[in-house]
Amino acid sequence: MSTTKEIRSSFLDYFAKNGHEKVESSPLVPRNDPTLLFTNAGMVQFKNVFTGQEKRPYNRAVTTQKCVRAGGKHNDLENVGHTARHHTFFEMLGNFSFGDYFKDEAIELAWNLLTKGFGLSKDKLLVTIYHDDDEAANLWKKVAGLPDDRIIRIATSDNFWSMGDTGPCGPCSEIFYDHGESIPGGPPGSPDEDGDRFIEIWNLVFMQYEQLSKDQRENLPRPSIDTGMGLERLTAVLQGKHDNYDIDLMRHIIEASAEVSGVAPDGEFKVSHRVIADHLRSSSFLVADGVMPSNEGRGYVLRRIMRRAMRHAHILGAKDPMIWKLVPTLVDEMGEAFPELHRAQSLITETLKVEENQFKQTLDRGLKLLEDATEKLGSTEALPGDVAFKLYDTYGFPLDLTKDILRGQNRELDEAGFDAAMKKQKEAARAAWSGSGDAATETVWFDLHQKVGATEFLGYQTETAEGKTQAIIKDGKEVESVAEGDEVMVVLNQTSFYGESGGQQGDHGVLKMPGGFEMVVTDTQKKQDLVIHIGQVKKGALKNGDVVETHVDRRRRAKLRAHHSATHLLHEALRQELGDHVTQKGSLVAEDRLRFDFSHQKPMSEAELWAVERMVNDRIRINADVAVHLTTPEEAIEAGAMALFGEKYGDEVRVVSMGGLDEVKGAGRDYSTELCGGTHVARTGDIGFLKIVSEGGLAAGIRRIEAVAGEAALDYVNGREKLLAEAAHSLKISPNELAPRIHHLLDERKRLERELADTRKKLVSGGGGPAEEAEKVGDISLMARLLADVPPKDLKPMADEIKKKLKSGVIVLIANNDGKASIVVSVTDDLTGEISAVDLVRAGSEALGGKGGGGRSDMAQAGGPDGTKGADAVAAIKKLIAEGEVAAAR
Ligand code: ALA
Repeated sequence: MSTTKEIRSSFLDYFAKNGHEKVESSPLVPRNDPTLLFTNAGMVQFKNVFTGQEKRPYNRAVTTQKCVRAGGKHNDLENVGHTARHHTFFEMLGNFSFGDYFKDEAIELAWNLLTKGFGLSKDKLLVTIYHDDDEAANLWKKVAGLPDDRIIRIATSDNFWSMGDTGPCGPCSEIFYDHGESIPGGPPGSPDEDGDRFIEIWNLVFMQYEQLSKDQRENLPRPSIDTGMGLERLTAVLQGKHDNYDIDLMRHIIEASAEVSGVAPDGEFKVSHRVIADHLRSSSFLVADGVMPSNEGRGYVLRRIMRRAMRHAHILGAKDPMIWKLVPTLVDEMGEAFPELHRAQSLITETLKVEENQFKQTLDRGLKLLEDATEKLGSTEALPGDVAFKLYDTYGFPLDLTKDILRGQNRELDEAGFDAAMKKQKEAARAAWSGSGDAATETVWFDLHQKVGATEFLGYQTETAEGKTQAIIKDGKEVESVAEGDEVMVVLNQTSFYGESGGQQGDHGVLKMPGGFEMVVTDTQKKQDLVIHIGQVKKGALKNGDVVETHVDRRRRAKLRAHHSATHLLHEALRQELGDHVTQKGSLVAEDRLRFDFSHQKPMSEAELWAVERMVNDRIRINADVAVHLTTPEEAIEAGAMALFGEKYGDEVRVVSMGGLDEVKGAGRDYSTELCGGTHVARTGDIGFLKIVSEGGLAAGIRRIEAVAGEAALDYVNGREKLLAEAAHSLKISPNELAPRIHHLLDERKRLERELADTRKKLVSGGGGPAEEAEKVGDISLMARLLADVPPKDLKPMADEIKKKLKSGVIVLIANNDGKASIVVSVTDDLTGEISAVDLVRAGSEALGGKGGGGRSDMAQAGGPDGTKGADAVAAIKKLIAEGEVAAAR
């Protein structure tokens, strides 16, 4: 008997041998289709290839595609566990032709694989076709030799396949397997077709059209093929089972569930084991593809799936969280085909554990409340909506969980009552809400968030995605469309753009539609969990509902990532170098630099700065993986994560660890562990290197470091080199000689300054000697000189020099330096009794346009704004001496 693994491989190999490219399954979150909640068929990743919008280097492909059908057009959540073939997660095997072969070869390939490859008997197979598809009918006759009564014509949408409301579509032909008379049920199209005897195993879709809107359909450029066969169904047939849950893969998980819970797999609790096995698969694969449990969007669907599984663990009587214990079995079964399970194993385990722990606390109390409420009701009476709402709002019971419990009691739920209670609560929230900042715009965000819910951020995994336009804001108001030149803000249902938060600046980039609209995004903000793309429409127009491609400026994002991860390493290095008192007080992660503010009492020494920079660069070169985990704030902090004091964290936090293991932090702990929602490098080596640019005081006890990393660090260092080169060039030496040469030049300059001062002194006091040059004012000798370009500090020593020779008299020196005057007056000691240098210098200073002056009676100095008035100053001093009004005794 072939195992599931072998059957999967045989399928892929068969088509590869027939010229098909083996293509990896695409992620469960469709990046190329924002209208879809989850990837729900193999053709999703090829949607644009069918329409001709995207080209690939092959025109035949084969995949096994991860699919989730839980929410949206194809939703199987409620049936899982109760039926033989419903799953929230399954694998779809499929072969594809992109304008290459069409119906004839598709039918032949399928028929040969089933009958020859897998050896199914022709008598066990029958097919359906779309009612008017005679071509397909004839081909089935020709290729398979099927008689007319085994080619059943169906007129309903069952045989016209479409992915969603829009997208490629076409008539299809389904292949059924007859499980035999022992099982009740009729062939497709018969009154008892819902029985379980005839099971559809393979759907061949003859892709011919593209549905553009509800009533608009276009031909595809070339007819194509899309097929889908549930791996689990096929395996059931090939392993001789009727029930998908009896195949080897599912059985192994169910048995693990039985072992962990201690409850037999097939008895009374069969349903619960099946639900757990199915939901374990969908939850694990969703987490591996980047979905985290939350209260909105995809995250909420995941939470609903997880909580439904947890209720079944509760039914099994599990006291402690148990679903996470099944992860190793799942990885054993499927990790080879889907290596992402290995990569995400610890994240899956932790996410399950956290969610189980959290929900356990309210599950018991919620169940008790529900029990009390239903006891009071008649046996068929519906559960009142307000009870269901209380369970939802206070106890975290998703509505479908409550319904699932009621289903076991054959009881309905008053959904209208639930909706009314929900509406009331939203209105109350709105009334209680008060925005911050620009009130008008803030209200727009609040209302929008209520209307459309959070934007899904896909940017941790990808830089390019597609998003559906949910709102366009122009001049603070919501509008239906915008045109070229408009400055706008755009909200999409999902995006690869990071909205500014946690200090990290928002992404830049382009939103566009092929061949039409283009908007340059120059800022991205986050408000109320909405990501707001801000920028200008450069081309075409955009209207609400349009699907746009979101292209993040990759180069800028890489720089932001480097600076963000470098910030985490810097934070830890500062703590290790300066002490645990270092905590983050502020942070900016920009494209060209990072800024980090932290508590520390005194300036950092050069040695400390060097040590920190060296430590960060050592951790960069270790080049270990950067790991991201999801957990509760309490567990994260316990595990050593640095959290920001006073910051409010949600139920779940994202923990980013990097830098490799670190003995200083304790066994098994990473160098840096922080709670962080930002985008980071994959390995620290991607940072390149870090250079600290400056350190300084910001406020009492708070220091600020600016640093550059990666490309910005290279630019910075190159800039520095250039400065050195320029300096060296102007001295005509090499940069290595700069330091000794500058020392030498400074010494030389000092020496020259000294020489110059001496020369001036000699000049002033030289010649025929001051005594002869002095003039007489009454009885007093006055020696006045007007000088140019003599530094003020040199005037006093010059006056002293003259004084030595003048014996008795008054000396006035006035210098004109670039139009500004300095004046020194000196009086020989024998005269200080009658003349004060201070009075004289004041008179002089006034004439020079200044005021005041100071000193002693034998030596005073002042300045004045007008250096050209030297002669006037001398005249004023002469006048004062002559008037004999000078009272030295004053
Ligand atoms: N896309 C087709 C399906 O999902 C094959 O059934």
